[in-house]
Amino acid sequence: MTEFLVQLEEAADRVTVALDALLPRSDGPEAKVLEAMRYAALGPGKRIRPFLAIECGRLVHAEERSLLRCAAALECVHAYSLIHDDLPCMDDDDVRRGRPTVHKEYDEATAVLAGDALLTLAFEILAHPDTHGHSARRCELIARIAAAAGARGMVGGQMIDMAADKSGWDIATITRMQRMKTGALISFAAEVGPILSDCDASVRRSFEGFAHDLGLAFQITDDLLDAEGSSEETGKRTGKDRGQGKATFVGILGVDGAKDQARRLVAQAKDHLDPFGERAETLRQAADYVLTRRA
Ligand code: IPE
Ligand code: IPE
Ligand code: MG
Ligand code: MG
Ligand code: MG
Repeated sequence: MTEFLVQLEEAADRVTVALDALLPRSDGPEAKVLEAMRYAALGPGKRIRPFLAIECGRLVHAEERSLLRCAAALECVHAYSLIHDDLPCMDDDDVRRGRPTVHKEYDEATAVLAGDALLTLAFEILAHPDTHGHSARRCELIARIAAAAGARGMVGGQMIDMAADKSGWDIATITRMQRMKTGALISFAAEVGPILSDCDASVRRSFEGFAHDLGLAFQITDDLLDAEGSSEETGKRTGKDRGQGKATFVGILGVDGAKDQARRLVAQAKDHLDPFGERAETLRQAADYVLTRRA
């Protein structure tokens, strides 16, 4: 395993431990929803969004404890988005992270509620004084994650993704959808450090540029894995986007065209890190990983 993958795994483990402590214990008459939240959030995901939040945050000397809480909150929102994405009324998937999806393991009502509760838990985590000593910073974190997850961000992108009539969609339409449904949460990851610390506006802009390009590349590689990856590697059903009439870069540019586009975006993402020199090497490796990942 490369040094980068070891680092990613170590960070993933730390985030999982933090999530385990932050998620409520599953007891009481509502235990089922709590159990489903834990099942979804603690499942074996890559934790790439938390990793990006922590690594960008380290570059601007944000506090580790704050970063870990923000990373955990972000993973809660991501886990919620996956639960709802898999529902029969959306992508109708049975397998996620190599295990039954939440509505298969439990039931649809529990899946809807577990998703809702993970979203609100994220706000609760960010609002807690342990996240940052200044309430204005905590408010900014909450406002930014809400915007990233909401109707002009992830939810909006998911809405566009569900459109029945996709005739006439061009690259620009698909780009906008992918940036919203997947890019927005990845962009939030890069905002965490600047919100927690007092860094220059230019640093914030560099991170924004980095995440903007990387977020789109991430969804293109997700679509590529659907087209030519295996369910053993990805832990989810593959080859389904075409059948479901999904609009993707692969559909419009073909596999090779989509790969070229992802390569260009990752190179562009790394260019935004130039001002940080050697210090951003881990983030550059993360960008390369987005391109080469098989899961
Ligand atoms: C899958 O995200 C959904 C997308 C937004 C493409 P990930 O590929 O990060 O899924 P996990 O968290 O590793 O399972
Ligand atoms: C999902 O995109 C993006 C989300 C906001 C969850 P996909 O529908 O392509 O994600 P997978 O392939 O099911 O993980
Ligand atoms: Mg989907
Ligand atoms: Mg899906
Ligand atoms: Mg997909």
